Amino acid sequence: MEILNTKVNLNISTGRLTGEEVLNSKKFIKDLKDVFLNEEVRGSLAGDELVYEVQAYLPVEEGKQGGLFFGNSTVYPGRVDNEYYMTRGHFHENFDTAEYYWCVQGEGMLILMDEDRNIRAEKMQQGSLHYIPGKVAHRVANTGTGKLVFNACWPSDAGHNYKEIDDHGFSARLLEINGKSALITEI
Ligand code: F6R
Ligand code: ZN
Repeated sequence: MEILNTKVNLNISTGRLTGEEVLNSKKFIKDLKDVFLNEEVRGSLAGDELVYEVQAYLPVEEGKQGGLFFGNSTVYPGRVDNEYYMTRGHFHENFDTAEYYWCVQGEGMLILMDEDRNIRAEKMQQGSLHYIPGKVAHRVANTGTGKLVFNACWPSDAGHNYKEIDDHGFSARLLEINGKSALITEI
């Protein structure tokens, strides 16, 4: 019998993945054109400011049925005007595939929008577990002062549909109003 070490390791305190097969991607202010409500303010900010980064472990080919992918996302604290730094958000390409998110560190909000554009949000804080059903777009905003770290697990045939959100956005935005976060229907 062969006893092996795992190729990838997860630091369960920090949420970080290590290992040669871990993929890393970063989204800077300059990559997020038209994502935030105030495009003028976004354009005036330093383009190389890091908004979020994602580590991913894809042990099987993307699109293959039956496998699972694992991710670690970090959303940095900050705002574009009064809108919190957040992920682009997406539906899954394979529409009816679900996903788990769980928060490792920080404070934030998971914004969920169903196919009829109904919005709801779930508070994220260390240990919060979020089941994202199929057919529901998901995006994460950092409402705190430190980084927001969450891990995710999703089916390897889920795929990502960013176009729908690029074209139509979410039907509500998480803004800071009088020092408090509020989910505001698109103005
Ligand atoms: C995978 C998933 C997460 C996000 C990540 C970045 O299905 O939901 O790993 O991909 O948090 O967000 P997006 O992909 O919206 O830029
Ligand atoms: Zn997803």
